[in-house]
Amino acid sequence: MRVFLTGATGFIGSHLARLLVREGCEVFALVRENSDPWRIKDIIQKLHLVRCNLLAFDKLDAHLQKIKPEMCIHLAWYAVPGKYLGAEDNMTLLAASLHLASSLREAGCRRFVGVGTCFEYDTSKGRLSETSPTRPESLYAASKLALQMVLQHFGETSGMEVTWPRLFYQYGPFEDERRLVPSIISSLLRNQEIKTTKGEQIRDYLHVEDVASAIWAIANSRLTGPVNIGSGRPVAVRDVVTRIGTILGHPELILLGAIPYSAKDPMFICADNRRLKNNTDWVPHYDLEKGLRNTIEWWRERLQSSEQGARGE
Ligand SMILES: NC(=O)c1ccc[n+]([C@@H]2O[C@H](COP(=O)([O-])OP(=O)(O)OC[C@H]3O[C@@H](n4cnc5c(N)ncnc54)[C@H](OP(=O)(O)O)[C@@H]3O)[C@@H](O)[C@H]2O)c1
Repeated sequence: MRVFLTGATGFIGSHLARLLVREGCEVFALVRENSDPWRIKDIIQKLHLVRCNLLAFDKLDAHLQKIKPEMCIHLAWYAVPGKYLGAEDNMTLLAASLHLASSLREAGCRRFVGVGTCFEYDTSKGRLSETSPTRPESLYAASKLALQMVLQHFGETSGMEVTWPRLFYQYGPFEDERRLVPSIISSLLRNQEIKTTKGEQIRDYLHVEDVASAIWAIANSRLTGPVNIGSGRPVAVRDVVTRIGTILGHPELILLGAIPYSAKDPMFICADNRRLKNNTDWVPHYDLEKGLRNTIEWWRERLQSSEQGARGE
């Protein structure tokens, strides 16, 4: 299988790239010239690197005409924590993703796997299934939903199958340290206090390797349209963070309730993942305890090796 993968240097894309290599795919990874490929160092020799920006349309078209991928998994997006929700880059990437889809079709690609978000839904509606109403409340979510809607129709008219995994909450190795789970783990490993909200928000967390395997299961199915990727198990944020504190033996360093909730933070988000479970052979390998322990071990090694590097060892 010749797979064109965008976003391979990112948090989720790096895990997917590793999985595709293990599955024996020929992986053509779109990587920007100035990108730091630190997350895929271990497999970089096994990838065909396509040095190109998603916004360089002519260059991208020429690459795709040569590669002629059978499938595209498109993860590249502007996802910088704290900035992505309102960034105009969302509009740029929406336009670039539409161009990518039509260029892929020209190159004979048969299946396009885009990636959306639970924020496309009206998050006040309880457990969310693919038929739940949508009501994006940010430029990010609106851009993702717009892309999904256009691509769904493009899929029907062009003959290129389009499917749209919708991701809920993920955590695991290689996540940006500014996000919740890594910020708690890295602070505690450094014996530093960390302030959080009261943590009563309910979320649906899934280990990133299970997210990657779910994307691949959907990619390999005949499913089209949105497909939720989540654990289906609601968990309070305070349970996630106190569990990390307990595993690391420092629950007292977590200052629960020290910061207020953000006005836009929904209190309940959980996936109905039956479409994924009933139509693919996907089975998650991590429960929350195992997944957090795996993530903590990864951070322990990462911080140790960066301290050794700083000491010149
Ligand atoms: N993380 C989550 O919790 C979450 C939740 C829901 C949905 N998603 C979606 O999942 C996807 C991956 O998220 P992530 O957390 O893995 O993000 P990430 O770590 O920030 O990775 C983003 C990737 O996109 C690439 N990229 C950005 N702009 C590009 C451009 N103009 N041309 C080529 N590549 C470009 C980046 O390349 P560089 O290395 O060059 O920067 C990087 O590989 C995104 O579509 C995101 O919206 C993520």
